[in-house]
Amino acid sequence: MPYIREIITDGHPTLRKVAKKVDPKEISDPLFQQLIDDMFETMYAAPGVGLAAPQVNVSKRMFVMDVQEDEHEPAVVINPKIELAEEEVEMTEGCLSVPGYVGEITRFRKVAVSGLDRNGQKIRLEGEGLYAQCLQHEIDHLNGVLYIDKAKNIRLPQTEEEHGVAEAAQAEAI
Ligand code: NI
Repeated sequence: MPYIREIITDGHPTLRKVAKKVDPKEISDPLFQQLIDDMFETMYAAPGVGLAAPQVNVSKRMFVMDVQEDEHEPAVVINPKIELAEEEVEMTEGCLSVPGYVGEITRFRKVAVSGLDRNGQKIRLEGEGLYAQCLQHEIDHLNGVLYIDKAKNIRLPQTEEEHGVAEAAQAEAI
């Protein structure tokens, strides 16, 4: 049975480590499969649309995501690599490891990422908007980077309107 793991927050050293590459032989290990299931459970409970392994204190290059408002399926990406990145745009972003805050960050509007899925098969994910934002945010986590390192106007919501933005951003916290 999957269970909800603790999401560590800014200040925890694991969030600042460069996560280790996953040995493909490890993917079929029941403990690794359990980690994937637990990460989905934890992400949905948060709620969020993406979660990287370092956020549950596991320093491995792997993340899960489910951007529910688009056509993409839930995904597990192991040892991800950015293959394409196009057109910088400014986006509002939040993170489950920096609870409550939002900020403005420059991201690529469209990206493609390759990696391995939970069966160890090669996959390539491509998308725009929130989907692309999430892919970039999760890969940053694997490199010890938080969005607050790069974002402007990091803030707690100050007005009703910003509460709305913050709630939306937290609902899509990654
Ligand atoms: Ni995050």
